[in-house]
Amino acid sequence: MKILVTGGAGYIGSITTAELIAAGHQVIVLDNLYQGHAAAVPPEATFVQADLADREAVEQVFEQHPHIDGIMHFASYTLVGESMQEPLRYLRDNLVNAANLLEAAVTNGVRRFILSSTANLFDDPTTMPIEPDDRIVPGSPYGESKFFIERMLHWFDRIYGVKSICLRYFNACGDTPGRGEDHDPETHLIPLVLQVALGQRPHITIFGDDYPTRDGTCVRDYVHVVDLARAHILAMENLDRIGSRKFNLGNGNGYSVKEVIEMARKVTGHPIPHVVGPRRPGDPATLVASSNTIRQELGWQPRYPDLESIMRSAWEWHSSHPHGYKS
Ligand code: UFG
Repeated sequence: MKILVTGGAGYIGSITTAELIAAGHQVIVLDNLYQGHAAAVPPEATFVQADLADREAVEQVFEQHPHIDGIMHFASYTLVGESMQEPLRYLRDNLVNAANLLEAAVTNGVRRFILSSTANLFDDPTTMPIEPDDRIVPGSPYGESKFFIERMLHWFDRIYGVKSICLRYFNACGDTPGRGEDHDPETHLIPLVLQVALGQRPHITIFGDDYPTRDGTCVRDYVHVVDLARAHILAMENLDRIGSRKFNLGNGNGYSVKEVIEMARKVTGHPIPHVVGPRRPGDPATLVASSNTIRQELGWQPRYPDLESIMRSAWEWHSSHPHGYKS
């Protein structure tokens, strides 16, 4: 298939692009390089530097690359904490950019769409692990923006016949030998812990140890980026068969912040000092996914089902790229 990947120079988008190419697909990457890295784009992909905010530029991508079979939409502002400081970046820009992309898709006859959605839709779950049909309570303007894009897709299916699969990832992590996580600033737990192991930070701060969890620290479901990439490809390849759907995507195992730090100590062999700080606003105590529906319906099986294999892949990338793509 010929796939347009927005955000294909970013962490999850570039690794998905590499997996798509390995699976025999043709890829056009659209990225503004605001957060992404040109070096992350696989050389076999066609790279277009453009901004989704620019409607004409988006339209031109479709004109210059006719017969696109489907879109994977990764390009987005993605930080829960930032969205609490700068809500319009999320409630305006994420929505307008998705709308511009969908408008061009419909105009150019593209009817397949895979959305990077988020666990941040489930701020007040009724069950744990969380099923995809649990009630939606966005935890931040970021989550709200993804929920609204899911709703946009609902109407684009009814009105224009655009079929979509929304993949609500839990905590994306892990790396591949050639591509990995390189954010500036870095806010995610696993890369931060590994920066401590590399001596780039003096310690990791645990954001609160008074949560109602087994050791008082937040519990999350860490899912490897290659497993996310493979879920996107399965979703695209099976979209015509199963139609529009929403899936939660995680390993189904929760690990606490302290357990993540302990695993990093084991894998890296470094001591990794920590201090305990206050809670980070907006963090729920526990988020664990039920991925049963995607396992049953698409045969998705994680290759990295446990934290140790995830941590080893992350350490391999971070120790060989201590300054990310600048290394
Ligand atoms: N944490 C710390 N110290 C740090 C960084 C993180 O204790 O320095 C903790 C957080 O409080 C949280 C856990 O480590 O409990 C994981 O935090 P991350 O920042 O790595 O990830 P989040 O769980 O905040 O965010 C992820 C995705 C978001 C998504 C969200 C859903 O990155 O895109 O899950 O809740 F929206």
